[in-house]
Amino acid sequence: MTDVPSPPYPASRPFFSPDADLRAQYAPIQADLDRVDVALERLADGSPPLIREAAGYVVRGSGKRLRPALLILCARASGYRGEDHVALSAVVEVIHAASLIHDDIIDGADLRRGQATPHHRWGLRLSVLLGDFLYLKAFRLALDFKDDRIVRSLARAASHMIEGVLMECAYSRDPTTSEDIYLEIVAKKTAALFAAGCSIGGILGGLAPGSIDALSRFGAGVGTAFQIVDDLLDFTGSPGELGKPVLSDLREGRITLPLIAALRRAEPAGRERIASLLRTEALSPAAMDEILAFVTGNGALAEARRRAVRETKDALACLDALPASAHAESLRGLATLIANRTH
Ligand code: IPE
Ligand code: IPE
Ligand code: MG
Ligand code: MG
Repeated sequence: MTDVPSPPYPASRPFFSPDADLRAQYAPIQADLDRVDVALERLADGSPPLIREAAGYVVRGSGKRLRPALLILCARASGYRGEDHVALSAVVEVIHAASLIHDDIIDGADLRRGQATPHHRWGLRLSVLLGDFLYLKAFRLALDFKDDRIVRSLARAASHMIEGVLMECAYSRDPTTSEDIYLEIVAKKTAALFAAGCSIGGILGGLAPGSIDALSRFGAGVGTAFQIVDDLLDFTGSPGELGKPVLSDLREGRITLPLIAALRRAEPAGRERIASLLRTEALSPAAMDEILAFVTGNGALAEARRRAVRETKDALACLDALPASAHAESLRGLATLIANRTH
């Protein structure tokens, strides 16, 4: 396909800086990931200068590249020896980047991947359009692949992502939000794209439908664990380590697993007190502190972490059918790392 760059590929990856643990899991696919970066770098070639500049700014940020890595590892662990995994990993990363642009507008977030969000830098109008441009660019690239299961799974994931965010908005500031509703939101807004990427790896590898489905379930489980940990880190992390604001879920009225677990664990009076605070439109700093102390004080964070680990265990069982290989091992290592991530 025309948009995939040809060798030689740059030896260094100046914009991408995953931490050492991720780097170790990425080792068997480092060359492929380098080529994904090159494909991303060339994404807006031929577009007007402002789009080129803004698209470059977004895709160049120091993202962890989890979705490309999972797709590549699934493809390689399925025995795939071709080249299409590079362009398709870039497609998945571009869908992710588009979703982040819109997500940061919705959240009013000013920091992403350690740099100013596009709407802070270029304003709302350009950023809404930039997100649209990236979504559609990704689908134009995906249409170049003959197997229509690929574009179908991406379209399904992208529409689920938007449904998930809409559902999250509908449950905003609702302290009665159940764990099941939370998990449905996560399945749609985050796990769906992980699942699509992993299943595309299996499709490229020519696996039987049952095995592709197993990879999809693996991706969904890893994606769920990933979002649970992301929600946990929103309470415990720091902007310096995460490259994005913390406590933003609380500020924006999102009811995530740590909060749901804390409410369930509390005595009725404490639960009612926190529930009434959560219904407040704009939380005062004192109310934020009170809710933070409530969540960190009653074992809810450990419970959320255990849930992420359990999701990961179930996900890993889906890999049993894969033949033993360095790539399958990295896939397991990466899933385990995601569940145990502390920054
Ligand atoms: C952020 O995803 C959005 C969520 C689903 C929580 P990542 O944490 O993978 O973002 P980058 O790509 O590393 O910036
Ligand atoms: C992920 O959720 C949003 C999308 C899937 C677009 P978050 O809102 O938790 O992501 P962060 O924390 O801003 O990265
Ligand atoms: Mg957000
Ligand atoms: Mg988050």
